[in-house]
Amino acid sequence: MDCEKFIEEQIADIKQTVGDSKAINALSGGVDSSLVTVLGHRAIGEKLRTVFIDSALMREGEAQGVVKTFADMDIPVESVDAQEEFLSALSGLTDPEEKRQAVTDTFYSKVFSRLVRESGAKFLLHGTILTDIEETVAGIKRQHNILTQLGINTEEAYGYSVLEPLKTLRKDDVREVCKSLDLPVEISQRIPFPGPALATRIVGEVTHERLDTVRRATSIVEEELADSGAFQYMAVLLNDRATGIRNNKREFGQIIVVRCIESTDARTATATELPWDKLNLICRRITTEIEDVNRCLYDLTPKPPATIEYI
Ligand code: XMP
Repeated sequence: MDCEKFIEEQIADIKQTVGDSKAINALSGGVDSSLVTVLGHRAIGEKLRTVFIDSALMREGEAQGVVKTFADMDIPVESVDAQEEFLSALSGLTDPEEKRQAVTDTFYSKVFSRLVRESGAKFLLHGTILTDIEETVAGIKRQHNILTQLGINTEEAYGYSVLEPLKTLRKDDVREVCKSLDLPVEISQRIPFPGPALATRIVGEVTHERLDTVRRATSIVEEELADSGAFQYMAVLLNDRATGIRNNKREFGQIIVVRCIESTDARTATATELPWDKLNLICRRITTEIEDVNRCLYDLTPKPPATIEYI
């Protein structure tokens, strides 16, 4: 693809559409929303307010890391604490689609529409890519960031229009555009991380404690697999328990699944053939460093029939 042309066209389009109005965008730190943030700031500068919504569902140190990466590029990002709103919306929910819906509703109807109202923004810049649209329209999954393609009139529902500058790109195109903009590798090479964040990696109820468990397992997996070259890697907390022995005592502990996959565009995937030593090390760290976890499994399932995330 012609990255230069794409960048020029999108910047011109955002500039023209937003005009003298204000725009807002939510940055998760993922490659898609990061690219939108950079294009938006190049197009309209201070007329774009970029927020990082701290939903309680993010990884260790994520809010601080994202704010710093962008501060280093002179792009101000505001971190907004919405932890309690997300946790109370998810409380008691176990059905995957209900959990996704709760995250979407809290994000758009509550937190984000409040921010839009406060800031007087008429436009929302959104990091939707082509694969998100295709999978949602095909009914494979209700992607968190799809609204207009599902017939939701955002102006009526939420009071703003949505701009989607990346909607013709796939993930590999997005990374290519990031590289041609010379964005730091923390952005261009960042592994995919879903909008509903760690909620997609908890089977069953999302609680503060369960988030803490999956967050700690995620840190271990990401640290150990950072140089694996895999497309994506993660930890998942199951909703089951299993018997184990610790300090000569029986315990009924929690189960973490490690998933590491090869893929080019996330539409299909296969499990990475990780070295046995590495798998053993991850297993040992997870079951000793995280209290109450006494089993660690490696998921071999390709997509399809599995998906990459667990909800
Ligand atoms: P699945 O689980 O559908 O994931 O095989 C395919 C890719 O998409 C990511 N993913 C999401 N990304 N919002 C996103 O921005 C979402 O709701 C969402 N759900 C899944 C997932 O991490 C994988 O890379």
